[in-house]
Amino acid sequence: MFGKKKESPQIDKEQLELIQNAQKRIKQKKRLYAHFVLFLIGSVFIILANTVLDIGKDFTLFGKEWFLFAIFIWLFFLIYHIFNVFVTHKFMGKAWEKNQLDKLVTLQKIRIEKLKNELKKEAPIIAESEHYNETLNKKEKTSELTIIVAAAENNAIGKDNKLIWHLSDDLKRFKSLTNGHYIIMGRKTFESFPKPLPNRTHVVITRQSDYQVPEGVIVVNSLEDAINVSKNDPQPFIIGGGEIYKQALLIADKIELTRVHESFEGDAFFPEIDSSTWKETANTFHTKDENHNYEFSFLTYERK
Ligand SMILES: NC(=O)c1ccc[n+]([C@@H]2O[C@H](COP(=O)([O-])OP(=O)(O)OC[C@H]3O[C@@H](n4cnc5c(N)ncnc54)[C@H](OP(=O)(O)O)[C@@H]3O)[C@@H](O)[C@H]2O)c1
Repeated sequence: MFGKKKESPQIDKEQLELIQNAQKRIKQKKRLYAHFVLFLIGSVFIILANTVLDIGKDFTLFGKEWFLFAIFIWLFFLIYHIFNVFVTHKFMGKAWEKNQLDKLVTLQKIRIEKLKNELKKEAPIIAESEHYNETLNKKEKTSELTIIVAAAENNAIGKDNKLIWHLSDDLKRFKSLTNGHYIIMGRKTFESFPKPLPNRTHVVITRQSDYQVPEGVIVVNSLEDAINVSKNDPQPFIIGGGEIYKQALLIADKIELTRVHESFEGDAFFPEIDSSTWKETANTFHTKDENHNYEFSFLTYERK
């Protein structure tokens, strides 16, 4: 029961295949050798049969003895056999296929190793650039350019350089949201105010080179410059009017819209909000009352 187990020789699969292959090759060569010997004996026998025993002596083909054709045909089969053993089986047999496959697999393995090494080398560079992009995005995202507007159902926002309605809760919301921030506006909107609003930095956009403004108001000649001068504010506001909204909608991050649920005649309009670019993130309805002649909703949109 606990006796020593008889050890059997261990041959792995690869070795076994090699042995089987060698045996097969030996058999093929032996058969070819037998064929060759048979051919020699057979040829001598055919020649003797014809010349000594006079078998088929009178039978000729194209003026030659028949045995010559017989030997030639046999020789052809012998050459075909030799070709099979030394060329077809050697180069195109199963072993050859396996050999080719092994070579291919080895080449692929080398390529994979090479790629792995290259990846190892490049990984820190990729990580660094990803980190750089993340930091850049964070830096850019620290400033949230926000449009603030009150627009009617037909997108009218003003007429004769004046607001169309008076909604005190909307004004309160405007004041509380923009308090302490940069407010960017077109020259016409600026001129619609009786005086600059307190506790806000006014940035007025005009194409005029000598536009005069009260002290503290910043004048710029493009929307880009307006955004640049406001870059230290985490949330600069675009406060109108129609011309500036149209340009700013392309680059803003957020919209604080008061939608007045009426349609009005106007000469300044807010552009259409494209739902494929903007998603609504807040919506608060406000009813009509003694201070508010119209129903309206506070809506927030964020760029998708
Ligand atoms: N409902 C609301 O929330 C709201 C808010 C704000 C305003 N509004 C209303 O909107 C109306 C005013 O809007 P608006 O469209 O007529 O005028 P606006 O946009 O306020 O100002 C237009 C002016 O801005 C300057 N400008 C525009 N684009 C420029 C650019 N790319 N580079 C340099 N300067 C540029 C030009 O000034 P120069 O002509 O001096 O070159 C232009 O005439 C008013 O009725 C106002 O009451 C409504």
